[in-house]
Parts: sequence; C-alpha cells; structure tokens
Amino acid sequence: MRAEDPQIVRLADYRPSDFLIETVDLDVNLHPTATRVTARLSIRPNPDGREVAALVLDGEDLNLVSAAIDGGALEADALDVSPERLTIANPPRRPFELTIVTEIDPTANTRLMGLYRSNGAYTTQCEAEGFRRITYFLDRPDVLAVYTTRVEGPKDETPVLLSNGNLAETGEVGDGRHFAVWHDPHPKPSYLFALVAGDLGVVEDRFVTASGRDVALKVFVEHGREDRAAYAMDAIKRSMRWDEEAFGREYDLDVFMVVAVSHFNMGAMENKGLNVFNDKYVLASPETATDGDYANIEAIIAHEYFHNWTGNRITCRDWFQLCLKEGLTVFRDQEFTSDTRSRPVKRIQDVRNLRAAQFAEDSGPLAHPVRPQAYAEINNFYTPTVYEKGAEVIRMLKVLIGPEAFKAGMDLYFDRHDGQACTIEQFIACFAEVSGRDFDQFMLWYHQAGTPSVEVSTAYDAAEKTFTIEATQRVPPTPGQPTKAPAVIPMVVGLIGPDGRDLPLVVGGQPTDAVLALTSATTRVTFEGLKQRPVASLFRNFSAPVKLSADLTDDDYLFLAANDPDPFNRWQAGQTVALRNLVARVAALRTAGATPEEPRIADAVRRAFAPGETDHAFAAQVAALPSEGDVAREIGDDVDPDAIHAARRALKGAIAASLADEIAAAYARLEDTGPYSPDAASAGRRALKVSALDYLAADGGAEGVALAKALFDGATNMTDRIMALQVLSLHAAPDRDAALDAFAASYGSDPLLMDKWLLIQASAPLPDTLDRVRELTRSRYFDSGNPNRVRSLVGAFGANPTQFNRADGAGYAFVAETARALDGRNPQVAARLLGAFKTWRALEPGRRAKAEDALRTLSRAPGLSADVGDIVRRALG
Ligand code: ARG
Ligand code: ZN
Repeated sequence: MRAEDPQIVRLADYRPSDFLIETVDLDVNLHPTATRVTARLSIRPNPDGREVAALVLDGEDLNLVSAAIDGGALEADALDVSPERLTIANPPRRPFELTIVTEIDPTANTRLMGLYRSNGAYTTQCEAEGFRRITYFLDRPDVLAVYTTRVEGPKDETPVLLSNGNLAETGEVGDGRHFAVWHDPHPKPSYLFALVAGDLGVVEDRFVTASGRDVALKVFVEHGREDRAAYAMDAIKRSMRWDEEAFGREYDLDVFMVVAVSHFNMGAMENKGLNVFNDKYVLASPETATDGDYANIEAIIAHEYFHNWTGNRITCRDWFQLCLKEGLTVFRDQEFTSDTRSRPVKRIQDVRNLRAAQFAEDSGPLAHPVRPQAYAEINNFYTPTVYEKGAEVIRMLKVLIGPEAFKAGMDLYFDRHDGQACTIEQFIACFAEVSGRDFDQFMLWYHQAGTPSVEVSTAYDAAEKTFTIEATQRVPPTPGQPTKAPAVIPMVVGLIGPDGRDLPLVVGGQPTDAVLALTSATTRVTFEGLKQRPVASLFRNFSAPVKLSADLTDDDYLFLAANDPDPFNRWQAGQTVALRNLVARVAALRTAGATPEEPRIADAVRRAFAPGETDHAFAAQVAALPSEGDVAREIGDDVDPDAIHAARRALKGAIAASLADEIAAAYARLEDTGPYSPDAASAGRRALKVSALDYLAADGGAEGVALAKALFDGATNMTDRIMALQVLSLHAAPDRDAALDAFAASYGSDPLLMDKWLLIQASAPLPDTLDRVRELTRSRYFDSGNPNRVRSLVGAFGANPTQFNRADGAGYAFVAETARALDGRNPQVAARLLGAFKTWRALEPGRRAKAEDALRTLSRAPGLSADVGDIVRRALG
C-alpha cells in the first residue's frame, strides 16, 4: 500500500461478519522456507450478517496452493486472489467446509508477524492481524472458533511442537519427522492462535487450582538458559493464585506454557495457553538481571496470565475496543504488583511512567482517545494511552463507585460475557447496573483525547470556619478534537490540620466522602467546622490522570511532604516543590537571570536519607528529582532541553552539596550484605543506595566517580554493576570507558546484557553520544534484525533528552534515517522508533524546525510502510 493514500478503518463502520467460522483444523507442515498450511474451516452464514455474494478472506504474503468447498476444488474463476485477500464468489448459503492450502516462507518473514523463524525455532505472533500471514481467514477478533492444530516438523530441529490448548496426540511420520496435535476447546479469535516449534529447553512445575484442576506449567527457553527460568515460573504460580483470590478467576486448561524467544516485536503475547515472551521478560538470575528486570518479569508474566480472562475468555469485538482488554489487564497487573510489593511505591512508579509516556503522547500530535475512532494501522495503537490511560480509567471507575460495587461489576462482566467479543459499552453497562449510576459523562474518558488540567484555588474563612475548594477543569484540544466537554474527574481530597492529621470532612452539616466528583467546568465545595486553616491534599493516590495546578504555597507543599497521611501525595508534594524550582531555574538560565534561592526541597531529600527511614523503596522515590521530561512538560512549549538538563544538574548538585555528609553516611549504611535477593525490600535498599551514589557523583568530581567505580568493580550482582555503570556513564571520565570495556569483556556473549551496555551508552548526556551510537550500530553487539538490540540502542537514543534533541538536528536525522532503513525489514519496530518525535512541536523554534525537517524528509521517502507512513503523517499533521 502506498503511504500517501492510507485506508482508514472507522469504528462507525463496524458491521458484524457476514460469515462465522466455528472450527479450524490446521495442519502446519514446517519447512524453513516452504511451510505448507492446510486449513479446514467450518463456515456458516452469520444470522446477524448480510446475505452477500462473496466470501472475502484476509491474507498477506501468502501463496495459495488450492481451495476447496466441501471437498470440491474451486476453479480459478470462482476465486479472486490479491495480495490482501481471497474472494470466493457465491459461497453456499448453508454451513460448509472450506479447505485452503497455502505456502509460506518463515525464514523470509523479517516483520516478525505471522509465522517466523529465528535462531532455528519457529514462532508465531498473530495480534493484531498476523494470522492472515499464515492462512486466508476472517482475521477479526469477533470471529471465534475452536482450533485443532497439527504441527509437523523434523525431529532433530523441532523436537518441541507446541500450539494452544491441550495436547491430544503425538506420533512419527517417517523421514525423521514427527507431529503433535493440540486441541483448544475454548473458542478464540485468530489473534490468540500460536504455534512454537524448535529445540528448546524446558522447566516444569505444576499448579492446583482452587477447584482442584491440576495444571502442568512449562517454561520453554533456549538450551542452557534453564537456570534463568525459576523466577518466571514462580511468578506464574503467584499470578494464578492471585487471580483466584482477587478476581475469582481460575485457569481453564490442563497446561499453561510460556516460551521465551529472542526475536520479538513487543514485550509478550497472551496466546491461549501458550504465552510467547520476549526473552528479556523471562530470563533472570542474580548474575544477569537487575532488580528492574525482576520486577518487569513478574509484572509481564502476571499481565499475560491475567489476559486469560480479560482478553481471551472475554475478548474484543473489534480493534477499537483494544483498551477493553489492555487497560483492564494493565489495571489488574498493577493491582497484583501492589499486593505483592509496595502499593504506594508501585503507584508512584506507575504515575511517573504515565506522565513520561502517556502525558507526553497526549500533549502532542500523536494524541488519541483511549478508544480511538479511526486508524490507518492498528499496530500503532498499542500505546500508553490505550494501555496506561486505559488502566487509569478503570481505576477512576473503582474510585467513583467504591470497591464493593467495582467487584460486583467485574463479577457481572465475567458472568455475562464469558465467551463473547465485547465493547466498552458492554463492560461499562455492568458497572452502571450494579451501582445504579449513569456513566454517560464517564464515557468521555474513552472518547476525548488530551490530559485534563485542573486548576484549584482554596480559601479559608476564619469567621465562618470554612474552607472552600474551587476546581476548574479544562480538556485541551487535540488532533481532530478542537473542543471538549468537561469530564467526570474523581478528586480524592484530605484536609490536614497543623498536627499533620486528617480532619473530618463536613459539608452542609453532614460528614462527607473524600471523593469529590468534578462534573462541570467549575466545581466548588465548602467544608465546615474548621477552626484553623487546613492544608489541602488534592488528588490523593493520583485519583485521576490530570495535570493539577493549585494555589498551595511551597510551604504548604513542604508541610504535605512531611505530613500527608497519603503516601502518594507525600511524594508528590516534594516533586511539586522541586518542579517549581526547576522551572524557575530554567527560566533563569535562559534569561541569564538570578538562580532561584536555596532549594528547600532538600528537607524532603534529607528525610529520605535519614538513618530512621526504613522504607527504602519509598525513600528512593522521594530522593529522585522530577525527570527532564517532567520539566519539559511543565514548561509546555518553547522547550530548551539543554537548559532543562543544566537546571536539573544544578539542583541535584545544590542538594548534594547541602546534604553531603548525610548522603555519604547513607551510602555507607546501605551497603549490601548477604547474598542477592530480588525481593522488593532488598531492591528498595539498592535503589536508595544508588540514589545516594548519584548525588555523591552529581558534580562529576573525583570522589563520587571513585565511589561509582568501586561499586562497579566490587559488584556481586547485576543491579549494582549496572547502576554503577549508569552513574559512571553520566560523566566523560576515563573510568567510564574502562568500565564499559570491562563489561563487554565479561558479558560480550550475552545479548541481553549487552543490550544494557548499548542502552547506557545511548542514554549518556554527552556530546559524543551520537557518534558513539553510530559506531555501535556497526559493532558486533548490534543486530538490526533483532528488535531488542534496535530498541536498546536507537530507541534509547531517541529517549535521550539532550542528545536526540541536539541543536544541530543530527539526532533527529539519525533516528529518522534509521527508521527508514529498518522499515523494509520490520515496519512495526521502525514505526516505534519514531515515537521519539511525539513531542517535537513543544520544542524551541530552532530544534522544532530541525525535527520537522527530518520528518518531512522521511515523509518523502518512497515506499514507506503503512506503519511508518501513518506515524509520520500524524506527527506532521
Ligand atoms: N497483547 C499483547 C500484550 O499483552 C501485545 C501484543 C501487541 N502486538 C502487536 N503486534 N502490536 O500487551
Ligand atoms: Zn496486554
């Protein structure tokens, strides 16, 4: 398809399929370059569809060998084969069996969609529209079928043959080939189909469900990596138990399998009973994985497992409903992690990520609603908005109706819609029903793009003993949505007295709930019975994904940072003071004005490093300053990334200087003792330790650098080693290069570890970073055919605030050129790289012009994929 005339798919055009497919019998005869797929489909006209003169099946990159209806071969004049579809004229108006034989080339499949071969093993990825690259099909999520899959391959190359469901049969066929037949009794859409075949190692365990089903658990990894699968296996068992306890959801097959593959476009995929994972989210050992890796593995294992109910048993009617499964499943995995680790710390991390990724997306040219209305390429809508904002919408729903009604609504949803392909409306109707509430206005969260801003002003009336909160909301214009209506925004509030305790909330003489629903442009609430001016704690636990600006003073925020009973807002208060200071510093730098005075934020940081602080993970969050991206978004437009970097560095240096002794003492105190354990408390201690190190090395002085070097040299686990390397890499010191060389010498043969090494270098805020990245693209540690390598090097560079945004535009040109070079090979990964441009319009005019240049040059390149074409068009649009 030409990038210039994209085909737009619209939600408003949805129609049920004219045909249904009830069973799929697949026979996949594996061959590296000529795999033969025989699909026997039992098809019937859909009573809810139209009577049509043709059956149109989706296809892509397929060679049709033959097609037959009820055993009778179809002649050429009954068939119309194009690269994108197979049209069968005058199909029967009764149930019939269609047999299609196609041939595909898994080795040539570099897009990693459909059936592909990497490292000698066969893998599939079918979401969203990959199944059509395996056989002609009604490749849409509302066509649910029962699959039986026979996989045949050579015994030596593919001793392991897997597909969805339960194993039904195995056998030999001579010629050194064997087969396995898998049957999945649960009707599913084609995007949940999977097949894996290869010579893989396996780790096995079992799980007994609440009702007594004995489930075999298998994690398949490359041979020799079995010892890195234990944590993933443990996470599977904990996820299974948690879903039973928290949501009453049990597993429903006799086997649950996870396969780790090295070439994968995304994080992982929830294929029924056969989850396929990017190996980076499975493999872990203390020697090879960081605390962050362990946390990701746990969360992603949980996420994919939870899809079994939210996604698989109940799936999406069409791809516009993607958030139905993704937003909800992210919400569920966030809850799992909150229960497993620290709830406040998880909330803080999620909000940091939401702001960095989703708020950034929402404020730029790629902004779109949680449920988009139209798309040119669905793969470009697996976004932070659909996933993370989608999860925030579920969270708000829960805050608004309360935990009991939320649980009742979820139960009703599972009960009513099991086995169906649903819409957001059907999901929300369950909550409307159990709560008796009207969700019309709430639905705006699904329809309107853009991050609402809420401005709060407060007034204390000493004579009346009242405190009034006035909140004004505004949803900014976004592409295609110039005007917006007020959303329903749950604002959870507290009023804190001078003793640091929450005061009773009384309105109109009645005790009242802490949840204020802001439903109009301006909402005013007056609290009574307040003998002294309280300090307001607003949007506790980040009760809505909005940007808040309030008339609270720095003193108020410092009070909250020390006293707020809500831990999230205790953290947020410190961040707000720091952010104000950083914005003022940037303004001073750019106008050569006076630097703002001594940062009182140091008080909050001092508490984080105090000997009495025992919640290290939380303290590490308090100690971490707002990111450069946070500052850029707060400034909003005319952004100068260099000034932001300089301001942040100066603030860090000022804090480090004023707390030098306390931080040094904390660093010594937080020293690792005993063997490595990835648990949350130990990880928290290491996080606070490296935060101390980061401050101690803030000025790039010899002492701090020596500490980092000592940590690197003496590290007994990968977390310390990587954190030390990261600190060293901020400074162009000779120690940095020595450490990088030493790392490569030790781990050069382990691609997942070398990814960290690539990422650290691509993230360095140093003027030689781009040259280095270019050089690294030619090194033996890089491979443009592997998405993990590409993301670690080029993706990380695109997220480097100062070096991607070099004033000379070379960073923009590099990322755009790399995306173009990759586009022919893997359009999805190429399109992802261009996410780096999502905030280009907010830049100062010089950089903005350079970024636009790079995008325009790219847009003129011939033969762009639909994926890249779509992003470029929207970014410029
Ligand atoms: N459903 C997968 C998940 O768990 C993501 C798959 C995305 N695949 C794609 N080709 N866009 O989030
Ligand atoms: Zn998902």
